[in-house]
Amino acid sequence: MPTPAARLNTLPPYPFALLTQRVRELNQQGYDVIGLDIGSPDMPPPECVVEELYRSAREPDHHGYAGYKGTPEFRAAVAEYYQRRFGVTVDPEKQVLPLLGSKEGIVNLSLAYLDRGDVALVPDIGYPAYSMGALLANGEVFWLPTREENDYKPDVSSIPEAVLKRAKLLWINYPNNPTGATADADFYKRMVDFCRQHNILLASDNPYVEVTFDGYTAGSALQIEGAVDCTIEFISFSKSHNMAGWRLGAAVGNVEAIKTLLTVKSNMDSGHFQPIYDAGIIAFDEVPQAWINERNAIYQRRRDRILETLPEIGLTAQKPKGSLYVWARVLEGDGAKYAEEALMKAHVSVAPGAIYGPGGTNYVRFSIGIADDRLEEALTRLKKWYSAR
Ligand SMILES: Cc1ncc(COP(=O)(O)O)c(C=O)c1O
Repeated sequence: MPTPAARLNTLPPYPFALLTQRVRELNQQGYDVIGLDIGSPDMPPPECVVEELYRSAREPDHHGYAGYKGTPEFRAAVAEYYQRRFGVTVDPEKQVLPLLGSKEGIVNLSLAYLDRGDVALVPDIGYPAYSMGALLANGEVFWLPTREENDYKPDVSSIPEAVLKRAKLLWINYPNNPTGATADADFYKRMVDFCRQHNILLASDNPYVEVTFDGYTAGSALQIEGAVDCTIEFISFSKSHNMAGWRLGAAVGNVEAIKTLLTVKSNMDSGHFQPIYDAGIIAFDEVPQAWINERNAIYQRRRDRILETLPEIGLTAQKPKGSLYVWARVLEGDGAKYAEEALMKAHVSVAPGAIYGPGGTNYVRFSIGIADDRLEEALTRLKKWYSAR
């Protein structure tokens, strides 16, 4: 066999691919491992969304290619959502692009903008696809430490001038995976001003915008005046409507960035199956806020059950106002060791914090996308294991 492309040498295996493989092996050996690791919603999408998928799939002319930019109706529904939800006006033809899940758009944005020598500014504690995408594109990653004491916000003023000259992308994500940190308009304004000043594309990854607790409502970076000059935002139905397996998301924002992303994508994929776009329209147009609120109330209850249990299992955490996670600091220090022991001794899989960057070493992440009874069983097992150590 020929050797794989050299660019793969810098690309470690995707961390969750390794973790799921280990869990699968343990399950095959007869252990009942409870997965609190991956942020995949356990509950179904709204019934009307699934009904629309059936209905549309029964149409004989809905089975061909649906277009590189998706359907005009889907783009219009995304634009209407931005107007209704954030008061942001975007042109559905030039400022909206459907994605095969937001992860696809995130990685392809790196391919669209980074050449060898170009830099992506990536939060060190953040979703791994930002750095993986940069590496796949032969770009460089400059880690921006985000830490508990700074409410998990990057300090862009500390970036050296020489790095800034080569920087093309700045990644932000609030409500944040894995920390659950949230951002206000002041923060978004500072990021927009910084990116405009330094000719950087602000990439606001916003898949958890509809997963919030305690009455908190999250916003969009595009709400900041002038943001559209330098910002692209990613949204996803994976978490907003429990549709992770459907692989439906969208990029919204700067006209040039959308066009450039489409140049990559139209050479790479041929869009989605039309019934998925149609179901996405129904998700935006017909799912009442009450459905989202009730779903979030269930997550909030699970979040609180985890938070209550942490003192008994050697962990501490801030209360997240959004996202699908509890980000817990290991009191004895080592997140990888904690996750390994929890897996092997309690048969509970939590994500070791180092997956999210070097700054995550002393943390583990719990997902709340898990059925209540399984969560209770996992917490009981963790307490038993921890008290017997
Ligand atoms: C911060 C963040 N961005 C993007 C994604 C990708 O989501 P999807 O590709 O399912 O839209 C995830 C998934 O967990 C995430 O946590």
